[in-house]
Amino acid sequence: MSPQYCVTLSDVQEAHRRIQGLVHMTPVMTCSSLDALTEHKLFFKCELLQKTGSFKIRGALNAVKSLQSDKHTAVVTHSSGNHGQALALAAQIMGNYSSIPAHVVVPSTAATCKKSAIRGYGASIVECEPTDESRAEVAAKTVQKTGGVLIHPNQDPAVIAGQGTIGLEVLQQVPGLEALVIPVGGGGMLAGIAVAVKAIKPDVKIYAAEPLNADDCYRSKINGILTPNLHPPITIADGVKTSIGPNTWPIIRDLVNDVFVVTEDEIKSATRLVWERMKLLIEPTAGLGLAAILSSRFQEKARDMQNIGVVLCGGNVDLSSVDWLKPLSSN
Ligand SMILES: Cc1ncc(COP(=O)(O)O)c(C=O)c1O
Repeated sequence: MSPQYCVTLSDVQEAHRRIQGLVHMTPVMTCSSLDALTEHKLFFKCELLQKTGSFKIRGALNAVKSLQSDKHTAVVTHSSGNHGQALALAAQIMGNYSSIPAHVVVPSTAATCKKSAIRGYGASIVECEPTDESRAEVAAKTVQKTGGVLIHPNQDPAVIAGQGTIGLEVLQQVPGLEALVIPVGGGGMLAGIAVAVKAIKPDVKIYAAEPLNADDCYRSKINGILTPNLHPPITIADGVKTSIGPNTWPIIRDLVNDVFVVTEDEIKSATRLVWERMKLLIEPTAGLGLAAILSSRFQEKARDMQNIGVVLCGGNVDLSSVDWLKPLSSN
């Protein structure tokens, strides 16, 4: 009997039908200079061009649309930013049918642009400490206070199924795909895509990319047991500071072929390469995939592979961190 996971291929297919027309089918782009550099044919799935600037709208919208609207008065989540924006927009889209307020718990350290965007989509922000424990605690209190339902950013099955729709699209868009490299934080995107891709094309390798400074997924795979980060990680890839969890771990344990860890310098230089060569303004978290491909362990492992997909998962760069863009008056 095959193992039971919280999400199946048919959940992902159902999610795809549910969100179709409300999110973009993002393009897959190629880049001959990055092909030459890596000696592979790379296919970049451009989720930075997705609504809200990241793939997160897929899962958030699937989750909100799956709710029984008569039972829930509000939606609540905790998020370093991108899922917060996505849930805020998802609630707004659903608000066309019946109004659902969104409350987003955000670490006090989150980028200002991400907080502004969450407010811009009409959600209210509740600040917490930058730890997984504080996020969960403040979110639980907010649920109690508002009578809302918690939509977990990466362990909610409807969120995982929604993120898996990326896998369905990539298989359609890249017929000869041999491997797909996916950044991992809580593992919602990785697990959702793995379920979809392995059910349709089991030979396609699923590889995770993770910062060395937040390497819980890598250590979990090595140890064979869920091994969360002990301390809040310090990494420029702020979308993946969180650890994989109880729903995503069994899928990752069984269906993910390998995890590649990369240093902060490797993330920065891969991000820079995508900006320079592809002219795509990805956020550093989205640089993880290319950074992993450029690593010597990956090159060794995938030497015989030709067609490799990479998920460019988001483009919400905090432009206030770019000095020359600041208005002269604030210099
Ligand atoms: C841009 C970006 N990439 C990747 C991730 C990680 O996604 P997951 O937590 O589903 O692994 C996030 C999560 O916030 C994100 O914002």
